[in-house]
Amino acid sequence: MVNLPLAPIRMTDQVPSKSNSIRPSQLRCIGCDRVFEKATQNFRCAHCGDLLEIVYPDWNTSDAARLDAAKLKDLWRQRRGSRFPVDESGVWRFRELLPSFGEKDVISLREGNTPLYEMPNCARVAGLPQLYAKHQGMNPTGSFKDTGMTVAASVARREGFRWVSCASTGNTSASMAAYAARGGMRSLVLIPEGKVSWGKLSQALDYGAVTCQLKTDFDGCMRVLNEVVQRMSVYLLNSVNPYRIEGQKTAAIELMEQLDWQPPDHIIVPGGNLGNSSALGKAFIEMRRLGLISRLPKVSIIQAAGANALVRTMRENGGSELVTVHAETAASAIRIGNPASWKKAVTVLEATSGTVEEVSEVEIALAKAEIGADGIGCEPASAVTLAGLKKLVKQGFVKPGESVILILTGHLLKDPEFTLKFHRGDLFAGAVSEKEVSILRPQQRAPIVLDATVDAVVQTLKAADDQLEL
Ligand code: F0G
Repeated sequence: MVNLPLAPIRMTDQVPSKSNSIRPSQLRCIGCDRVFEKATQNFRCAHCGDLLEIVYPDWNTSDAARLDAAKLKDLWRQRRGSRFPVDESGVWRFRELLPSFGEKDVISLREGNTPLYEMPNCARVAGLPQLYAKHQGMNPTGSFKDTGMTVAASVARREGFRWVSCASTGNTSASMAAYAARGGMRSLVLIPEGKVSWGKLSQALDYGAVTCQLKTDFDGCMRVLNEVVQRMSVYLLNSVNPYRIEGQKTAAIELMEQLDWQPPDHIIVPGGNLGNSSALGKAFIEMRRLGLISRLPKVSIIQAAGANALVRTMRENGGSELVTVHAETAASAIRIGNPASWKKAVTVLEATSGTVEEVSEVEIALAKAEIGADGIGCEPASAVTLAGLKKLVKQGFVKPGESVILILTGHLLKDPEFTLKFHRGDLFAGAVSEKEVSILRPQQRAPIVLDATVDAVVQTLKAADDQLEL
C-alpha cells in the first residue's frame, strides 16, 4: 500500500526568498492602472470598466532577486518526484508565479503535465524540418481550460461562493462543472443552443451543472450572464476572471521546462475569446522579467476566417479599437465575435512581435486531419494552428530554420461529429465548391460497411494496400 503524505505544506513557504513577508497579489486595471484588493462581480474595473489583471507587487521591488530563477527551476524539478497533490498538479507545481494559496483551499484534478509531441507529418506539410505541439487537450477534462479553472474555482470556494457560472462554447463549461463538483459547489452553464458539441455538453451534464441552452450565440450568452452575476450571488468563471488567466499561464512555464528553458522562435495559438493567448503571453513576459528565460518567443494568434474579430482589429486599426463580427465557423469552440480579452491579446502581439492570421473552413478541416495523421488528433479549433502556420511559412514570417510550437487546445474526442462528417465527406454539404473540397479527399477515410466474411475483409485490405503503393 502507498503511504500518503500527511504533513501539511505551506505553499508560499517554499519560495526561495530573502524576505519572510510576501505581499499578496493584487488586481490591476489594464485600462487605467488602478489597483484593487478585491474584484467586482463581473471582474471589470469599478472606475473605467476595463479588464483586470493579476500583478505581484513584490516582483517590482529592487529586491527582485527574491525569486531566484535557478532555485525556482530546481524547486519545480524536485516537485515532479513529490506525491503531494499540489505538487502533482502541473499548475500548482509552479505556484511561486501564482496567487498564494493554502493547499487545503486548492481544488485540483492533477491538471497540466501535458505532453510535448514531435509532429513529423505536420512539419512536412508546413514545409519545416521540425515541428512540436504541446497538447493541452490532454488535461483532465480534455481541454486547456482546466489549468485556469483549478485556480479560479479555488478562489470561488475560498471566497465562500455556493454557485459558479460561465457562458461557454463548451470546453469552459465542461471544465467548470468538473471543478465545481470536485469543490462541492453548484454550477450554472449558459451555452448557445445547437452550437456546442455533444462531447462537451455531456460532460457538463455528467458533472451536475444546471445547463441552459440559450437561443443565441456565445456572445449573447455572455451578455445575459453579465447581468445574472450582477443580480445573483454567483461567481463568474469566464476568462475575464483574471485568476483563470493566471492558471493558464502555467502551460507556458511547463513548456519552457520541457524545452530546458530555451524559448522557441514561435508559439502558435488559436484565438477565440482571447484569454489563452493573453495568458501564454503574460507568462512569457513574466518569465523574462524574472530571468527564467532570456528572450521572448513570437506569440501568433490564428482565428477562423468566420470568427476573425482580432484579425480585423489588427488589420483595420492596428489594435486600437475592437472590430466585432457575427461569428460563424464549424470550429464551434472559437465561434466568438466579440472577444473579451482582445486588449490583452493586442498587448501580447505587440510585446512579442507576433502576428495574426485567419484560416478558412476547408483549411481547418485539412489541418485537423493532418494532425490526426501524426497519431495525435485534436478538436477543430486547435487545428487552426497548423492551418495558420502553413500560411505564416509561405509568407516568410516563420522561416524554415526556426523552432515552432503549436498549442493544441482540445482533445479529438470533444467533437467526434466533426471528424465523422469530415471522413464521410458531408462536412460542408454543398456549402463549399467541389474544387475546394477536392484537396480533402486524400485524407478522408469513411468507415466501410461489409458482409461479415473473411474474403470481404481481405479484399478491402488488399485494395487499401494497393492504394498506398500508388
Ligand atoms: N480552443 C478550444 C478548444 C477552445 O475551447 C477555446 C475556447 C479556444 C481554443 C480559444 O481560446 O477563448 O482563450 O481564445 N473556448 C471557450 C469555451 C470560449 O467557452 O470553452 P480563447
